[in-house]
Amino acid sequence: MSESLTNFCKMPLKIFFWAFLLKLALSASDHFTYNGFKGVNLSLDGLAGITSEGLLRLTNSTMHEQGHAFFPVPLRFKRSPANNVISFSTTFVFAIFPEHPMLGSAGFTFVLSPSKDLTKASPNYFLGLVNPTNNGNASNHILAVEFDTWYSPEAKDINNNHVGIDINSFISNQSTSAGFTSDYDGKFQNLILLSGKAMQVWIEYDEINMQFNVTLAPLWTPKPKIALLSSTINLSGIILDNMYVGFTAAVGTSYSYHYILGWSFKIDGKAPELNLSNLPPLPQTSTSFKKNQKILSLWLPLALSVFVLITAAAVLVTAAKKKKFSELHEDWELDFESYRFPYKQLYTATRGFKDEYLLGIGGFGRVYRGVLPASKVEVAVKRVSHESKQGMREFVAEIVSLGKLRHKNLVQLLGYCRRKGELLLVYEYMPNGSLEKFLFSETKQTLDWSLRLQIIKGVAYGLQYLHEGWDQVVIHRDIKASNVLLDGDMNGRLGDFGLARLYDHGMAPQTTNVVGTLGFLAPELARACKVTTSSDVFAFGAFLLEVVCGRRAIEPNKQEMEQVLVDWVFTNWKMGTLYETKDPRLGKDYALEELDLILKLGLFCSHPLPSARPSMRQVTQILNGDALLPPLLPYQCHFSDIDSEVNKGASSFVAIDRTTLKHFTY
Ligand SMILES: *[C@@H]1O[C@H](CO)[C@@H](O)[C@H](O)[C@H]1NC(C)=O
Ligand SMILES: *[C@@H]1O[C@H](CO)[C@@H](O)[C@H](O)[C@H]1NC(C)=O
Ligand SMILES: *[C@@H]1O[C@H](CO)[C@@H](O)[C@H](O)[C@H]1NC(C)=O
Ligand SMILES: *[C@@H]1O[C@H](CO)[C@@H](O)[C@H](O)[C@H]1NC(C)=O
Ligand SMILES: *[C@@H]1O[C@H](CO)[C@@H](O)[C@H](O)[C@H]1NC(C)=O
Ligand SMILES: *[C@@H]1O[C@H](CO)[C@@H](O)[C@H](O)[C@H]1NC(C)=O
Ligand SMILES: *[C@@H]1O[C@H](CO)[C@@H](O)[C@H](O)[C@H]1NC(C)=O
Repeated sequence: MSESLTNFCKMPLKIFFWAFLLKLALSASDHFTYNGFKGVNLSLDGLAGITSEGLLRLTNSTMHEQGHAFFPVPLRFKRSPANNVISFSTTFVFAIFPEHPMLGSAGFTFVLSPSKDLTKASPNYFLGLVNPTNNGNASNHILAVEFDTWYSPEAKDINNNHVGIDINSFISNQSTSAGFTSDYDGKFQNLILLSGKAMQVWIEYDEINMQFNVTLAPLWTPKPKIALLSSTINLSGIILDNMYVGFTAAVGTSYSYHYILGWSFKIDGKAPELNLSNLPPLPQTSTSFKKNQKILSLWLPLALSVFVLITAAAVLVTAAKKKKFSELHEDWELDFESYRFPYKQLYTATRGFKDEYLLGIGGFGRVYRGVLPASKVEVAVKRVSHESKQGMREFVAEIVSLGKLRHKNLVQLLGYCRRKGELLLVYEYMPNGSLEKFLFSETKQTLDWSLRLQIIKGVAYGLQYLHEGWDQVVIHRDIKASNVLLDGDMNGRLGDFGLARLYDHGMAPQTTNVVGTLGFLAPELARACKVTTSSDVFAFGAFLLEVVCGRRAIEPNKQEMEQVLVDWVFTNWKMGTLYETKDPRLGKDYALEELDLILKLGLFCSHPLPSARPSMRQVTQILNGDALLPPLLPYQCHFSDIDSEVNKGASSFVAIDRTTLKHFTY
C-alpha cells in the first residue's frame, strides 16, 4: 500500500490531470462487481445461462457447442482514438467440472471483443473465440486469456492444462502450465484446471509499462505476488475505443461445465475485491472430483511439546503411509490375484507418478512410464479414475481376460491394481510411442513408405486377431493412429482395446454419445449405436488413409470439402486425382501400385454400407497379395440404406457379452 502510494506521488501532474478528465468522461459503467449472478443482466448466447443458484454457466452437457457471456454495454478503453489503452483490471472465480474426471473438453476464455456477437465462432479448440476463416486476422481485434483443458496440436498447445494469452487467434502468443508461485516459499505449485475446484484469476494491464499480467490461485489464496503470465504488449493496435468484456467457452467430443462464480472489472484502477463468502455454491455432483493423491499436510500448533509432536508425527506418518499405498480388495478378486500388482510397486516404478514419467494423457487417463523394482521390466501404467463400484467386477474380469490375448501386434496388458476411486492398468512399454507423433508432428522425422506398410500390416493382423483369433469376438471400437503404438522394432501395435467397455459398465457417467473418435465413426454407429466388427473395419479404413495421407481423419480448420479425410480421398478418386492425396512428405519414396492398393483399400473399408466392407481376414489377404482388391465402384448412399441394414444384417455380429464372460473359468 505504502509503496504504491509513493509511486503514485512520483507520477507527473499531467497524469493526475488526465485521470481527472477521465473520471468525468467515463460513465458509471467503468466498473462492476458481481458476487454471483442472480438477476444480473448479461448478454448470453449458446450454452450460456445463469443457474438458479446464481452461477454463470458458460457450457452444459451439450457437445461440440459454445457459449458466450458479455457485460451488456461496451466499455471505453481509450481516452481518444489515437491514445493508448487505459489500464484495466479484472478478477473472477471459476470452476470446471468435466464429464470424465481426467478428461477435459476444450476450455474457456476471458475476452475483450469489439462485438458481443461471437456466435459465428467455432466450438472445440476454437474456444468459441474465432473460426477457421477469421482465425489470426488482425481485423478481429480480440484479446483473450484462455484456460484450456484440451491438448490440441492444431493450436500448438503445450499440454492439456494451460493458461495462454491469445491475440486474434486461438493459437496463444504466450502460454504456460496452470499454477501459481507461492508467496510463502517461492515454489511453483501446479493447479489442475478441470479439478472442479474454484480458482481465482486476476488479469491486469498497466498502461505505463504496457504490461499485461495474468495470475491464478486456488480460492481463498491471496493474489500471489508473482504473475503466472506477464507480457509486455502494446495493446493500442489491438483494442479499439469501445470493447465488450466477457467470457467464451467451448466443448468438444466430451463436455465440461464451465462456471464463473463471481466477477469484477474496472477501467483505470484495481478491480473491486470479490466477497468470496458471498459467492454462490458449486453444484453437488454425483461424481466427486477428489484429487487422486491425498497429500496429508499437518499443521500442528507450535505450543505442543516436542515429545507429543514426535509421537503424533510418527503415528500420523505411519497412517499416511498406510493410506498412501492403500488398495481396494474384494473377495471376487481372489481369482485374479496373479494379475494383480501391489500399488506400492507401481508407485515405486513410476517414482510416485512423477510428471517426468508421464507418457501422455489419453481418453481414459494418464499414462506413466515405469520400471518395475524387482524385475527391472519397463512398463506403462495407465491410471483410469472411476468412482462407482458398479460393474467393476465384470470390467476387471474382462480386462483380465483381454490380458490373456497375446499377439505381437497388440500392446500386452500385464495386470492391474485397484484403489479407491481408481483403476491402474499395467501394459508392456512401447519405446517408440504413438504412431500419431510420427505422422502428424512437424518436428519428428517422417516414416518412410516401407515402414508405413509394415505398420499397416501389423495393425491389420492385430485387429484380425481381435475379431477372429479368440473364443470371443473382441471389438476394438477406437482404432486410430493415436491408439497405435510402436515397439522397439517399429512394429505397429494396437493399444487401448477393451477400454471403451468402461462406458458400458457404468463407470463413466451416463452419456448418450457413442464411444469412439469423430472421423472414425461408421455412419451406422452414429445412427443406431450398433457396434460391430464392421464398424471397426470402417475405422481401420480411415486409419489407412491417415497413414498414407499423413493427416488426421478430421481437420476442422481445412476447407469444408477437405475436412473429413475419407470423403476427401473419395472425391479425389472420383476426379481421378487419387494419388494427390498422399502425404507430401513421402516425396518420391513409394511404389505406385502399393500406394494405389492402400488408398483404395482404405476407401473399400470405409464404405458407408457395412455389408459392402471387407472382413479383416479379407483385408489381410489383400494386403499380402493372396486376394485381389475388388474393383471400387462409385457409390451413392443414403442413410435410409444404412438404417435398413442396421435393422437386418448387423446383429449377426457378436459383441462381447457380459453374461458370457461370467462363465469363463480362470
Ligand atoms: C440489459 O442491459 C441492456 C443494455 O443496457 C438493456 O438494453 C436491456 O434492456 C437490459 N435487460 C434487462 C432485462 O434489464
Ligand atoms: C444447454 O443449454 C442450452 C441453452 O441454455 C439449452 O438449450 C440446452 O437444452 C441445454 N442442454 C442440456 C443438455 O441441458
Ligand atoms: C480479414 O478480415 C477482413 C474483414 O472480415 C477481410 O476483409 C480480410 O480479407 C481478412 N484477411 C484475411 C487475410 O483473411
Ligand atoms: C502474437 O501477437 C501478434 C499481435 O501483437 C500477432 O501478430 C502474432 O501473430 C502473434 N504471434 C503468435 C505466435 O501467435
Ligand atoms: C506483472 O508481473 C510482473 C512479474 O510478476 C511484476 O513484476 C509486475 O509488477 C506486474 N505488473 C502489474 C501491473 O501487476
Ligand atoms: C503503440 O502502438 C501504436 C500503434 O498501434 C503507436 O502509435 C504507439 O506509438 C505505440 N506505443 C508505444 C509506446 O510504442
Ligand atoms: C462479505 O459478505 C458477508 C456475508 O454477506 C458479510 O458478512 C461480510 O461483511 C462481507 N465482507 C465484505 C468485506 O464486504
